Amino acid sequence: MIAHDAYAVEPWCLRETTLHLDVLPQSESLFALSNGHVGWRGNLDEGEPHGLPGTYLNGVHELRPLPYAEAGYGYPESGQTVIDVSNGKVIRLLVDDEPFDLRYGALHHHERVLDLRAGVLERSCEWTSPAGRTVRVRSTRLVSFTQRAVAGIAYEVEPVDSEVRVVIQSELVANEQLPPLGGDPRAAAVLESPLEPEDHAAEGSRLRLVHLTRRSGLRIAAAADHVVRGPETVRTATESSDDLARMTVTAVLKPGETLRLEKLVAYGWSAVRSLPAVRDQVDAALAGARSTGWHGLLEQQRGYLDDFWNRADVEVDGDAEIQQAVRFALFHVLQAGARSEERAIPAKGLTGSGYDGHSFWDTEMFVLPLLTYTAPESVAEALRWRHATLPEARERAEQLGLRGAAFPWRTIDGAECSGYWPAGTAAFHVNAAIAAAVVRYVSSTGDEEFARQTGVELLVETARLWRSLGHHDHHGRFHIDGVTGPDEYSALADDNAYTNLMAQSNLRDAADIVERHPKEAAALGVDDEEAAAWRDAAEAMTVHFDRVLGVHEQSRGFTSHQVWDFAGTRPDQYPLLLHFPYFDLYRKQVVKQADLVLAMFTRGDAFTPEQKARNFAYYEALTVRDSSLSACCQAVIAAEVGHLRLAYDYMGEAALMDLKDLQNNTRDGLHIASLAGTWLALVAGFGGMRHRDGTFHFAPKLPEKLGRLAFTVQVRGRCLRVEITDSVATYTLVGGEPLEIRHYGDPLTVAVGDPQRRPVPEPPALPEPEQPPGRRPAHR
Ligand code: BGC
Repeated sequence: MIAHDAYAVEPWCLRETTLHLDVLPQSESLFALSNGHVGWRGNLDEGEPHGLPGTYLNGVHELRPLPYAEAGYGYPESGQTVIDVSNGKVIRLLVDDEPFDLRYGALHHHERVLDLRAGVLERSCEWTSPAGRTVRVRSTRLVSFTQRAVAGIAYEVEPVDSEVRVVIQSELVANEQLPPLGGDPRAAAVLESPLEPEDHAAEGSRLRLVHLTRRSGLRIAAAADHVVRGPETVRTATESSDDLARMTVTAVLKPGETLRLEKLVAYGWSAVRSLPAVRDQVDAALAGARSTGWHGLLEQQRGYLDDFWNRADVEVDGDAEIQQAVRFALFHVLQAGARSEERAIPAKGLTGSGYDGHSFWDTEMFVLPLLTYTAPESVAEALRWRHATLPEARERAEQLGLRGAAFPWRTIDGAECSGYWPAGTAAFHVNAAIAAAVVRYVSSTGDEEFARQTGVELLVETARLWRSLGHHDHHGRFHIDGVTGPDEYSALADDNAYTNLMAQSNLRDAADIVERHPKEAAALGVDDEEAAAWRDAAEAMTVHFDRVLGVHEQSRGFTSHQVWDFAGTRPDQYPLLLHFPYFDLYRKQVVKQADLVLAMFTRGDAFTPEQKARNFAYYEALTVRDSSLSACCQAVIAAEVGHLRLAYDYMGEAALMDLKDLQNNTRDGLHIASLAGTWLALVAGFGGMRHRDGTFHFAPKLPEKLGRLAFTVQVRGRCLRVEITDSVATYTLVGGEPLEIRHYGDPLTVAVGDPQRRPVPEPPALPEPEQPPGRRPAHR
């Protein structure tokens, strides 16, 4: 946890005014820049000190063996791990022969600002070397949203009071030394020097390195070009070797003189393209960036973000910290997904190597909802990536003796990388999350072309999976046994309610889409009988209800299990998975993360308001939130059932997960799904937004602390702005045809120039449910 106030609270930026080396690794994640294609951790320009240097390219990974003590059928044999590629951020500085290194000398001023509107990381500092020379350094860094292969840095140095001789080394560094990696030494061995040199060049102001990964067979090129501005004494030289390409700039600077370096960096990678092709690709990307120029790139970046903020901003009055956090969240989620273009969106985006750079259901269930209503183009891309991995998913289903497609629990390129069955492939619900994301996207954009080309097949193959995974019993009821739901403290359970309800919509949605697109369905071999079997399974889906307790069972028999000994669990024994054996967690009532509570959000139509309130209270007392994905779901349902204060606290936890490093692992990368959850907690929680059967429903209510909440969502190419105060909700349409929505169930039509105002009812006064001792979220 970040123990000091490292960051100032401001509405449109994250500002650090003191360099705290103890939280440097966390700051590198928070200040990471990415466009979903290329990711640069927020490392200091000079490379050191660092927590974890990181340059990531979406999809670039290395393979490593996944060893098992005992072999078993269907275990994945090979794992995938994101690798740190050629670092183009490094700009080393020597001041009269002394390295500019903030661990030495005196730092008089330090500031880093992540500017959420400009899309840049600004840095400025003033430092006196141990030999008494004082310099000012300023840098601006960007990873371009508009030119996805391109990143850049403008770097300036000036002496403060006396003449200095400075040397700048602007580098591309491959196989850079990483801090010791914990965990499996075999994995560390693979990752230590993952790149084999293939080609290098340095000429004039240009640098280039090309490498190959040893096992995954990827070719990666990085190239840089520079513009140098300074006094006449400036001299430059370039050199390259296998793992290093460098431009050295020397100058003698008098006070008042500045040496400025603009460095443009381009990346390209491919599993199939030849050395000349990949080399030409980065040269071309650089040529494009050069013709735009540094200032042009800055302008494009701002233009891209102006457009995004117009469509996506969330305004919060009454809590400045949350105002900052939600914009920070939107920015990072955009960075993770904006240009990922037919590649995965990893759980950490491209901000760190946590979770090996894998993608999970997090993407479809948490990240894509936000993007669907703010940047829908990126959702189509993310789902096209899933579609492109159908061959692997079909193969996996076949291997498991199932039909259709079994998408991986964790992966980089589409192959299952989870070696642990109970909290791996058994979490089949990822398939329903993908199907739900397709339906959400198509329904909110009306993109039937996408539905035809991509959606039908994803829905059909996931429906086939469910139909073959479940069975009708002798009463005709449909069950899905032996699967793991979102709560990973229960595994291989029968009839997990969340899974069954999500599978139910998946089956129905598949039957609906094949009716709409019969040609595409026929091409996939779907006939009337098959679609009817999906509907039958959906109609007969089983969800268990405990009549004595009056609550739904998370899975069959769940409420009869022994309740976890919460009173006997010490605060330092959380997360439980690190302190207790799984077998014991599995057989008791203890919930890692929202599961039935999530079902009440995603399938709210399957529960009455009374059931929601009772279920919520029951599962609150069992939920420990050992996953960052939980708080936001609890916030949404707490708000729906009327616990606004509690919802507010959960929203705060989701929002500050990384800014306060609540799970002590922000150093490994940001929790992109929890960041997206901040938005969900505000929009679906306090805005009460539900998108069901093609209609947008709102049931807004504000917690006492907030004076106003306003947000904008994209609906069928139109911008709908919703503004909520404690007594009134105002719906405004910005452009396009009138839109029918619902406010607390009542239909209303919003047209351009005719905002609709509706009263917001008083929230009920309800007794708050209890959490396990010590697990209540912090009060805001
Ligand atoms: C959660 C999963 C999640 C994964 C990646 C785990 O701790 O239990 O639901 O997909 O983290 O975020």
